[in-house]
Amino acid sequence: PVVSQWTGLEELGTELCLKLGIQKVVVVPGGDDDDLVKRRMARAACAHMAGVLNEGSVVAVTGGSTVAAIADEAALAGLPGGIRFIAARGGTSGDVKSQANMIAAMLAAATGGSWTPLHLPETLAETSIGPLMEEPSVMEAMALYDQTDCIVHGIGDALELARRRGADEGTLEKLAEEGAAAEAFGYYLDRDGSVIHRLRTIGLSRSQIDRIPHPLAVAGGVEKAGPILAYMKQAPGRTVLVTDETAAMEMLRLS
Ligand code: G3H
Repeated sequence: PVVSQWTGLEELGTELCLKLGIQKVVVVPGGDDDDLVKRRMARAACAHMAGVLNEGSVVAVTGGSTVAAIADEAALAGLPGGIRFIAARGGTSGDVKSQANMIAAMLAAATGGSWTPLHLPETLAETSIGPLMEEPSVMEAMALYDQTDCIVHGIGDALELARRRGADEGTLEKLAEEGAAAEAFGYYLDRDGSVIHRLRTIGLSRSQIDRIPHPLAVAGGVEKAGPILAYMKQAPGRTVLVTDETAAMEMLRLS
């Protein structure tokens, strides 16, 4: 069944919000047309950001196609100027528009803000992390993470994200054996939202995420219902989720 009334979607959001134990769930209509639904989620995410951000706010963003859609909608969204955007993660292979640095730069251009780059590979050798933490640009990013007002992030299926990152068969098997269900910020989580594996990376840390006043998760599509449920088991209670109707209905069915 499809809930086609906006009032119905509000109720769906309220019901889901109570189930997930987070601050708010915004549900946009539909779920079949990936691009259209991503644009709707992006507009809803921008509307939320416009309500909580001010000139000088610091906003960290992860990569992914869902967060990238927000950059496309931001110009007309009424976000305040002077926001400082920063990538929460370094760069990966794949679509350039879905890179966290690119999204931060595009958001800054669209809203009259600024952005601070984090020009590092997303995954690093263990021995590289210490020396890179001494780099002035990395130290600047780290200081901004401590002042971050809002983190805008996607949620993905663990194995799909691991494949996207070029994980080898051994890692994929290990993740599957350990029951990997979701991925967010480079952390792989099981169905209870516990971290079972994390990328060797420099970026926004889980303890910093836990202190951010406005965590905003944006994820939709029926296949994301399981990953969203897993992530929300241990998400900060202040989290706002923007999702779509099909993911929302599936989450209620599964929970
Ligand atoms: O962490 C999750 C992924 O970044 C989500 O990527 O929005 O392209 O599905 P996506």
